[in-house]
This record gives sequence, C-alpha cells and structure tokens, in this order.
Amino acid sequence: MAEPLIVVNFKTYATAMGIQAENLASMMASVTTSARMVGVVSAFDLATINQSSPNLEIWSQHLDPVGMGSFTGWLQPDNAIERGAKGTVINHAEHKVSLNHVEELMKQLPEEFQICACAADVEEAKALAALSPTFIAVEPPELIGGDISVTTADPDIIKSTVDAVKSVNENIRVLCGAGVKNGSDVKMALSLGAEGVLLASGVTKAEDPFEILNDLVSKI
Ligand code: G3P
Repeated sequence: MAEPLIVVNFKTYATAMGIQAENLASMMASVTTSARMVGVVSAFDLATINQSSPNLEIWSQHLDPVGMGSFTGWLQPDNAIERGAKGTVINHAEHKVSLNHVEELMKQLPEEFQICACAADVEEAKALAALSPTFIAVEPPELIGGDISVTTADPDIIKSTVDAVKSVNENIRVLCGAGVKNGSDVKMALSLGAEGVLLASGVTKAEDPFEILNDLVSKI
C-alpha cells in the first residue's frame, strides 16, 4: 500500500480561509509523518498557500468542466493548476454534480492530476468507479460534521465501498470521511481497507489544530 493520506478539507470554515488558511496549511506542512498530507482549500487561497507552503500538496474543493471564455463564476481547471492545485475534490456532499460533470472534467485534466470523487454510499461509489478517478471518498452525509466517526458509526460502509470499488478498478484508492477526529479513527479506517481519510471539522474546529494533526498521524 502507498503512504496513507490525511486529506483536510478547509471548506469555508472561518478558521481555514484567507490568512487562517495559510496558517493551517503551514501547520499541515510542518507535521513530521510518513503520511501524505493534503489540504483541500478554497480556490481563492490556492495561489497564496502554494507560495507560503510550497511543500504542502493542495487540491481544489471543486472544479467545473469549462474552457477559457464565457464562463462567469465557474472554476476553470487550467487556472487552478496554474495556481498550484495538484488535484481536486469533486461531487462533495455539499457540492453535488452529475456523473457527466465528473466525466467531462476528467477528460480535461492531465493524467497526473488527482481526482477525489466523493460518494454518499456504495452504489454511488460504484458508479463513480466506472470513471476511474484517482480516489473515491465515501462519506455518509448524515455523519458529516458530527461527533461520531464513520469508522465507528458505519464501518461496514467502508469495507463494502472498498470491495465494490476494487471490483470495478483495483487501482482506485478509497478514502473515508465524516466525523473523523483522531489517530484511532485513522487507524480503524486503514484497517477497514481505506487508504486514508478525508476530514474537516476535527481539524478546522479544534482548539489546537496542530495537536490534532499530530494525533491523526500518530498511529500510522
Ligand atoms: O470533506 C470532509 C467532510 O465532509 C467531512 O467533514 O467535518 O465530518 O470531518 P467532517
């Protein structure tokens, strides 16, 4: 298995936008770990974070399959790449898109660009797997932002998603998320076959995010 991933979605938390986003990114970059740390940041913050924490891998929170020209307000992929994005989350529970959106977006992106497609359940994960994104992140929407980690509340969904996705394409790496808070949750996720976690509030709402980041990687 390649190195496990700790993917922190900054969403639009006040603690993870603008200057605060730069601070959080710099904390992530300074964690000593064999895990692969990824910050999923606002499109507005890509360029500054890329400059202030050049060693941290950053992804966009969403992209649109549009070209250059008359596309007011859309998130154009080449622009994100130019500003430092090495990947993107797509179809997050808070920003759903059609399968066609994901497919058209993937056609536009270079081979090495990391695509993390989110799924609410096993069925959606299977449908997305047919498109062969780099990652599929399974996140039961009802557990997002809550106190109970998906690894405790619904471990079966992680195992079943891994099985379903690998049966379609064994190269796709599965992440899990929703309510993930600490190193034990990460350890459990890995033992269930996930290759990392996607989390937000456990870090963005923490009193001491650096302590939490270190705890997340402590059992890897
Ligand atoms: O993208 C990660 C996310 O939706 C999970 O959020 O706050 O439950 O870790 P949270």
